[in-house]
Amino acid sequence: MKVLHIDSSILADASVSRQLSQAIMTQLQQKHADLDIEYLDLATQHIPHLTGEILMGQNAQQTALSEKLIQQYLDADIVVIGAAMYNFGLSSALKAWIDRISVAGKTFKYTETGPVGLAGDKKAYIASSRGGVYGENSPADFQEGLLTTVLNFTGVTDIQVIRAEGVNMGAELKEKAIADALNTVKAI
Ligand SMILES: Cc1cc2nc3c(=O)[nH]c(=O)nc-3n(C[C@H](O)[C@H](O)[C@H](O)COP(=O)(O)O)c2cc1C
Repeated sequence: MKVLHIDSSILADASVSRQLSQAIMTQLQQKHADLDIEYLDLATQHIPHLTGEILMGQNAQQTALSEKLIQQYLDADIVVIGAAMYNFGLSSALKAWIDRISVAGKTFKYTETGPVGLAGDKKAYIASSRGGVYGENSPADFQEGLLTTVLNFTGVTDIQVIRAEGVNMGAELKEKAIADALNTVKAI
């Protein structure tokens, strides 16, 4: 079983989303003996922003990188994404990854009845961390909302969000938010 594990927080060892995504991976490894894991640390493995040149296939090196990222995403049976909320959205590094894998004809296609995802048949876990408290479907949430929409657009609808929020609202709340999220992970 192939797992694509992505981290995108800029906060290294202090990152909450990295702690959660790692806990999800540990849980998955306990459940499945045969995991074939690919790890992308977007804070250190820098994906250049999409440019017109890259989009038009005029940069061979970047075309190869885009193709590798798309194939990795298509091949995965499970995707685990550590997604921090930065300025109501995702880290720019994770957005750069999204821009590379959201490609018509590869991960979705346009049809007469609308777009159809081509990367379904996989399970996604989103390890979400937020300084404030938003709950679900907040109009100020361009983080989980964007990521879920993109995954859905590529056909991935089986998504579980593991969320620690309010982590910048005092030590007690942070500790509780992380403990609750880690408890949810144990039930995976
Ligand atoms: C650059 C930056 C921007 C942030 N923007 C927000 C924000 O818009 N809303 C919020 O609730 N928390 C915000 N935070 C707090 C983070 O969401 C919180 O620290 C979370 O734990 C980040 O995930 P990480 O620990 O995995 O990096 C921000 C933090 C940073 C460093």
